[in-house]
Amino acid sequence: MARIVLGVAGGIAAYKACELLRLMTKAGHDVTVVPTESALNFVGRTTWEALSGHPVKTQVFEGADEVAHVRLGQQADLVVIAPATADLIARAATGRADDLLTNVLLTAHCPVMLAPAMHTEMWLHAATQANVATLRERGVIVVDPDDGRLTGPDSGPGRLPEAADLFPNVASLLESETVAAAATRRDLAGRHVVVSAGGTREHLDPVRYLGNSSSGLMGLSIARAAALRGARVTVVAAHIEHPVPAGATVRPVVSTADLAEAMTELAPEADVIVMAVAAADFTPRTASAGKIKKESADAGLQLDLVQTTDVLKTLSHRRPREQTIVGFAAETATGDELLRLGQEKLARKGCDLLVINDVSGGGVFGQADNAITIVSPDAVIGSWTGSKGALAHRILDAAGAVGSAG
Ligand code: CTP
Repeated sequence: MARIVLGVAGGIAAYKACELLRLMTKAGHDVTVVPTESALNFVGRTTWEALSGHPVKTQVFEGADEVAHVRLGQQADLVVIAPATADLIARAATGRADDLLTNVLLTAHCPVMLAPAMHTEMWLHAATQANVATLRERGVIVVDPDDGRLTGPDSGPGRLPEAADLFPNVASLLESETVAAAATRRDLAGRHVVVSAGGTREHLDPVRYLGNSSSGLMGLSIARAAALRGARVTVVAAHIEHPVPAGATVRPVVSTADLAEAMTELAPEADVIVMAVAAADFTPRTASAGKIKKESADAGLQLDLVQTTDVLKTLSHRRPREQTIVGFAAETATGDELLRLGQEKLARKGCDLLVINDVSGGGVFGQADNAITIVSPDAVIGSWTGSKGALAHRILDAAGAVGSAG
């Protein structure tokens, strides 16, 4: 259980913070909500008190005997502000201390994450962008807003991501100091990371398909870690069962042929490509346009399958010198045999790094933890066990090392 301060600034998206608070308390965290005075115009004090189980203050002089303006910040494991308005961001960047929330920011020793929400003009304004850059330089994690419908008829970047998309960032930042430190480094700022995640489906007819058990968690953890480290992230998503990180662009695909098309299109603009998707190696020679009827297959159904394009191999052979490509190897072997198969696969695919995991027993799919070994063409970079969130940072560290050496 962690102590979280949830700051809420005065924007219409304040209502989404109720759901974020609910997800935090459901996960067992102790959350103190610190709204700004103007946030109470959108969601009232009673709601925050009822949902958090704590009294709610907005000003330094309320309950001054508790010295909340110092204590809350000092004792927090994480401060999250959602929504963070243009005004709150400006006050944070200039170090103002004119209400309880800005005092908390000045006394917090823990990671601080801001999720901005405002109209597009306000977000793109040079003043806001300069304030965001200042905060990021100081190690504050500022999540990019979503692009979409805003209050009223207009749309553009400025939407607060949904609570379900923000909450995994909270979980990830609380997971370990290594993860939080990596997130504040912003070493991937200015880089475009394209991650394929999930599992492709090859349709036999409109209702039946050949698929696999990948939930997409590993790929999405990498996408989230890259976004927290400042990268522009595109997720090529094949039937994922987990939320896409806030701020990432999503390109849905169904089959390996769709995957090949999407990756070929995105690759020229990518600095790092991570192929975490479980892509089908075989597809029906012809898919039936109508549902295959049982009566037409009395003697059983013979499937005629052909190999799909090896997307990783194709991308690796075409890649520009400065691009780093990471492949995955799902193997049902262990120990030295696992390593041997992995290194053979790396050579065959021609990528820069291969993340090898043992999938015997199907234990990896959908699970929070994993055990990986990362190999390069000439070395074993290392083996790690841990949550997919923590391992994601190891993989990005290894990819970063290749990129800076290249
Ligand atoms: N991959 C791909 N295109 C395919 C199949 C796989 O790009 N048609 C990618 C996966 O995303 C992964 C890597 O290749 O990054 C290895 O996938 P894996 O299934 O382990 O290897 P295969 O090449 O399919 O070899 P095999 O199944 O024979 O072990």
